[in-house]
Amino acid sequence: MTKPFEKPIYVTRPFLPPLAEFCQGLEEIWETAWLTNYGPLVQRFAEELRRFFETDNVCLFNNGTLALQIALQGMGISGEVITTPYTFVATTHVLYWNKIRPIFVDIEPDYYSLDPEKVEAAITPWTSAILAVHVYGYPCKLNRLADIARKHNLKLIYDAAHAFGVNVGGRSIAHFGDLSMFSFHATKLYHSIEGGLLTFKESGLKGVFDYLKNFGFNGETEVVMPGTNAKMNEIQALMGMQVLKHLPEIVSKREKITQLYRERLKRIPGIRLTPSLPADVRYNHGYMPIEVDSVEFGMSRDDLYEKLKDWNVFARRYFYPLICDYACYKNVSVADPLAVARQVTERILTLPIYDALPLDDVEAICDVIESLQCSRAKSFMDIGPGAETPSA
Ligand SMILES: Cc1ncc(COP(=O)(O)O)c(C=O)c1O
Repeated sequence: MTKPFEKPIYVTRPFLPPLAEFCQGLEEIWETAWLTNYGPLVQRFAEELRRFFETDNVCLFNNGTLALQIALQGMGISGEVITTPYTFVATTHVLYWNKIRPIFVDIEPDYYSLDPEKVEAAITPWTSAILAVHVYGYPCKLNRLADIARKHNLKLIYDAAHAFGVNVGGRSIAHFGDLSMFSFHATKLYHSIEGGLLTFKESGLKGVFDYLKNFGFNGETEVVMPGTNAKMNEIQALMGMQVLKHLPEIVSKREKITQLYRERLKRIPGIRLTPSLPADVRYNHGYMPIEVDSVEFGMSRDDLYEKLKDWNVFARRYFYPLICDYACYKNVSVADPLAVARQVTERILTLPIYDALPLDDVEAICDVIESLQCSRAKSFMDIGPGAETPSA
């Protein structure tokens, strides 16, 4: 592989249903002219999700961030919440908007989710909840976190933004913890353009979430709490339902891509892959993270990230920097040295993965990475598209 791709290959590309199918759905919306405020499509979508997750306790939102923000508000979480610095910034923003103090603790090195030992050590009398993230859709240490939450009487909340379609032991990952939030953002393997979903254990929360996402209205003339506007609209619901029909095919195409990447990349010195998942996990193949060991690979993660752009390949550094290093959270004191998170954030790179990515392109991306590694003996900055691919 010496030539750059003709068109840019981005880290993701949303699945789109056949246009004719979508237009047919739009006709229904045009007929009713019902665009938002609990329209028929949102109601139908909620019903489909109740079946999908095998629970009545689902609540749809216009995005995942507001869903999680409202979840914390509705559950009355306050004081301190133990969470991870290795995530998308929205996980911490929702704490900020609820005036909750984030307590950042370290992650475990295999799948990058909260380290339960560090969580337990960080509990204080002010701790009210654990907010853990299934990073890349890899399940957290579910049993350990549940034990800690039970022992210390804490709520266990999962940011499952990446984990739609993930099952553990034959059950959806939504059934673990007190509540989970799924993001239906277009960058996710499953999406409704924008959108978010809460699934939860306590049925009584449904009414509260419904108020909070609709200004606190109870009927036409009564406002029972200071809510906001976080309702999903009909076009989002239409997209969500249509993409849902294709979920098995989306996941199976992504699975083939993961397999090929892993097969090719495991042989490259300095590239670390996550360990194989336990047999009882059905993964959604949402992301393709690798870690770059700059000494062994002969090039830093950042140089590889930049170099790939020369071939028109746009990987992403999810998640870099750590949340606690963003300017707006610099004043949050962090007791944990975050040794693992600090190392991972400097080494992580997520490679392009989406259902429509041809396997030949995956091979070509791996060829580029391999050739860059092989060429480390030379000055790697001299290697670029058009240069001869060094032999192994
Ligand atoms: C881990 C995580 N949490 C929260 C969010 C926010 O979700 P949304 O974009 O749907 O608001 C995202 C991504 O977008 C995310 O990756």
